Amino acid sequence: MEKIVISGGKPLCGRVKVSGAKNASLPLMAASILSDEPLVLHNIPKLSDITLMAELLTHHGVHISYDAATQAYTFAALSIIDTTAPYEIVSKMRASIVVLGPMLARCGEATVSLPGGCAIGTRPVNMHIDGLRALGATVSIENGYIHAKAPKEGLVGTTIILPFATVTGTENILMAAVLARGQTIIKNAAKEPEVCDLAKCLVKMGAHVEGIGTDTLVISGRTHLNGATHHVIPDRIEAATYAIAGAITYGDIILEGVVFDDLLAFWDSLLKAGVTVEKVESENAAISSVTAHAEHRRDEATNFLQFGVGIRVPAEIKGVDIMTEPYPGFPTDAQAQFMALMTRCDGAAMITETVFENRFMHVSELCRMCANITIHNTSALVRGVDQLVGATVMATDLRASVSLVLAGLAAKGETTIQRVYHIDRGYERIEQKLQTCGAMIERVR
Ligand code: EPU
Repeated sequence: MEKIVISGGKPLCGRVKVSGAKNASLPLMAASILSDEPLVLHNIPKLSDITLMAELLTHHGVHISYDAATQAYTFAALSIIDTTAPYEIVSKMRASIVVLGPMLARCGEATVSLPGGCAIGTRPVNMHIDGLRALGATVSIENGYIHAKAPKEGLVGTTIILPFATVTGTENILMAAVLARGQTIIKNAAKEPEVCDLAKCLVKMGAHVEGIGTDTLVISGRTHLNGATHHVIPDRIEAATYAIAGAITYGDIILEGVVFDDLLAFWDSLLKAGVTVEKVESENAAISSVTAHAEHRRDEATNFLQFGVGIRVPAEIKGVDIMTEPYPGFPTDAQAQFMALMTRCDGAAMITETVFENRFMHVSELCRMCANITIHNTSALVRGVDQLVGATVMATDLRASVSLVLAGLAAKGETTIQRVYHIDRGYERIEQKLQTCGAMIERVR
């Protein structure tokens, strides 16, 4: 099994190009099911989760091709030949659940293996199911599978109030509603940039969706969606991870291709920790500090490819309390990485996880690297230590694993991270990107 070996303690300096967002790409790929015309997607990252989604879509009958010249993938769902998402694929990637809504809407039926729990929580899909039921579907659970069937005349629009702003739940209901009859209103919808990216692509496909970026989505159903071409947004969590790689090693990193607004709560916490975060327009020009241009930034979000963010670190990192929340709050997907940073802080930090019930699996591994962290229910109290020390540690889920990479970059001596396949689910060419900034990191068998 592959391992990552890091010789830590070296400040990282250089530029990192941020890849396309995994959590935007996955539902966008599933959206291809909604039309018999091709959907062309640019900026899809090369990740094992993307390969799994491609495998699932191929199983359903979607023809996928790649154009090396434009680096775009085309998804052509001329006909859906199998409406069952099998356990063998769904059990490897719970995001497979996002085929449920579009397949039900397009084919009138869908059978998807129940994803089950995972390392970060039980993660039920009751809100997805309740939403589809509200649109008129009959849904039953048998032998570990969700069986959903639309009425003969198709799904019917209605008002759905989500008890929690679930990300993939909102995406599933949205993709079902774009082909339902009449109007659907989703209240307390998730506002994550990945949800907005999906909604914008659906609009390009001919869907009528209003309220994108707010917690109320108003959808007027269509009988048919067309093909479209779409550019996937940059991965804000990957950007946050490399920002911390710079900060935790007291380095100087420039992130290329970030939508600054998508990470405001995160930048704010970094700033409070004493890290300098600057918007950078071109090779060397720092154009503004984070706080000075908050309004100006909003208009520029669509031009994300031109902009970067520079990270610089002062003599000491201050302890900062954070609490994870749905967007626009501090992202749960950056909690483990921020905790790694706080292990080096001057003082202490309280890190509270409110989105998932079991997302502290990295704590015991960080403590094996001499971090000082104690868990109190949904909070972790991190007391800064002078020095992390390399150790052999084990990855348990995607973000927990990458927090160990970050700790390893800062630690004295050698860190070996096992079960690297977790990292490959969400980080494209992580060793190469870090090596470019001077990290001593390699993958070994
Ligand atoms: N929840 C329910 N019932 C539901 C749906 C959700 O109780 O029907 C609960 C979950 O158990 C959890 C909370 O609501 O406690 C939030 O879950 P949400 O549905 O928003 O998460 P998700 O859609 O399953 C996506 C991302 C996650 C990310 C979360 C939160 C994708 C493919 N996955 O998951 O990404 O952590 O939103 O932002 O978009 C990752 O990339 O590492 C990752 C885990």
